[in-house]
Amino acid sequence: MHHFDYKDGVLHAEDVSIPEIARAVGTPFYCYSSATLRRHYQVFAGAFKKSQTLVCFSIKSNSNLAVIRTLAREGAGADIVSAGELHRALKAGVAPEKIVFSGVGKTRDELSFALRTGILQFNVESRAELEALNDVATELGTRAPISFRVNPDVDAATHEKISTGKKENKFGILWEEAHAAFDRAATLPGIKIVGIDVHIGSQITNLDPFSRAFQKVIDLIKELRAKGHTITNVDLGGGLGINYKAGNEPPPHPGEYAQMIETLMQGLDVRLLFEPGRMIVGNAGILVSQVIYRKTGANKTFVIADAAMNDLVRPTLYDAHHDIIPVQDPGSDTCVERVDVVGPVCESGDAFAKDRDLPPLAEGELMAILSAGAYGAVQSNTYNSRLLVPEVLVEGDRFAVIRPRPSYEDLLALDRMAPWLT
Ligand code: LLP
Repeated sequence: MHHFDYKDGVLHAEDVSIPEIARAVGTPFYCYSSATLRRHYQVFAGAFKKSQTLVCFSIKSNSNLAVIRTLAREGAGADIVSAGELHRALKAGVAPEKIVFSGVGKTRDELSFALRTGILQFNVESRAELEALNDVATELGTRAPISFRVNPDVDAATHEKISTGKKENKFGILWEEAHAAFDRAATLPGIKIVGIDVHIGSQITNLDPFSRAFQKVIDLIKELRAKGHTITNVDLGGGLGINYKAGNEPPPHPGEYAQMIETLMQGLDVRLLFEPGRMIVGNAGILVSQVIYRKTGANKTFVIADAAMNDLVRPTLYDAHHDIIPVQDPGSDTCVERVDVVGPVCESGDAFAKDRDLPPLAEGELMAILSAGAYGAVQSNTYNSRLLVPEVLVEGDRFAVIRPRPSYEDLLALDRMAPWLT
C-alpha cells in the first residue's frame, strides 16, 4: 500500500502532483511519500505484540536524513554498517541505544566511534572482529555489548547477489564455530555478550527460509543458555520482500511474518530486534524521469529517459523489475506498445525495462519508475559525469527538496589538479 495515485488524470504523491514537483526541481528526481513511510513502519512494528520489540530501520536502503528522521519520530532505531551511517543516524535523531552495527568489515576506528557513542550492540561477524573489538573496548576502559551474527546455511531463495545466509557467503560466523565464538567472547574483558543475530538475505518472498533459519537460531539459543551464556537480544535481521510488479502475488504480509516468529519464539524470554529496509521504504519512493527521445532500432523501439543506470542501478545489477507508469493517466482503454526504456549512459546494460508493453510514452512526457525508494538513491553515482539526482519528500500537500541537485561546479570541485599539471 502506498500513496502514489492518479488524481484528475495526473499522478500524485499524496496531495502533490508530480508535474508540479518536476516544474520546481527538474527531472529526474526521487520522490518519497511520508505517509507511506510512516504506514509501512507502523504496519511492521505494530505486527509484533511484544512491547519491547525494537525495529531498527536498515539505513543502507535509504539514508537520507529526512527519511531517517521521519521514521525515527515513529520510534524506529537504526541498523548501520559504517561510520558514515552512524553519523547519519545520530544527525537524524536516532537515540544511540536504538542503534545496531552490522557488517563484516568494521574498522577499529569505526568500532571505537560506535563504542564512544554508546550504541545498543555490535553484530560481530568474525572471530577477528571480536578480538579487535575487545582490544578497542579495553583501551577505552569499557565493555562492548555484542551479538554474534551467525550464518545458518539456509538458502533464502533470492537473487544470488543479495543472498547472505549460505555458508559460502562472507557473512556471519560459521554455524559450526558459533559455540566456540560465544565461549571465547565470554572470557574477554572488553566484551559483554547480549544476544544473537541472523540475516539471511534480501527481497525474500517466502516465509519458509526465514522459519528454517529462525528455528536453528532458537535451538542454538537454548544450547548457549544451557552453557550459561546470556542471550537477551535476538536480532532477526531484515529481508522481507515487497511487490515490484502490479498483479503479482504479494509477498507475505508483515502480520504473517510476525505471527510465524511469535509462534516459533513462544516461551523464549527474549527481546526481538529487526532490521527491515526495503519493506519500509521500497514502495514509498519513485524515480520520476522525462522522455528525451524515442528511437526506432532494427527491431525495437527505444524510449530514451533522462534517468539512467547511475541513478537507479537495480535493473542493471540484479535484473530487477520495476513497474513504469506514465505520469499522465493513460486510462484503462489505452493501447500498449512494446518498448525498451533505456537511459543515456554509454552501456548496453543501461535499461530500466526490456521488451515491456507500456502505454505510449511521447517525447517530453514524464514517467514514474515505481518501487524505487529502497536501494535507489543510495546506490546512485555520477558515472558519465551525470549529476546526482535530487530527492524530494512529500507530506500531505507540501513537499521539500531533501537533497538538492548538485551543480556542475560542485561535481568538478570534488577533483583537484595535481600540482605538476597547473
Ligand atoms: N540487515 C543486514 C545485515 C543487511 O545486510 C541488510 C541488507 C538488511 C538488514 C536490510 O535488508 P532488507 O530488509 O532491505 O531486505 N541493493 C540490493 C539489496 C542489498 C541488501 C543488503 N543488505 C537491492 O537493491 O536489492
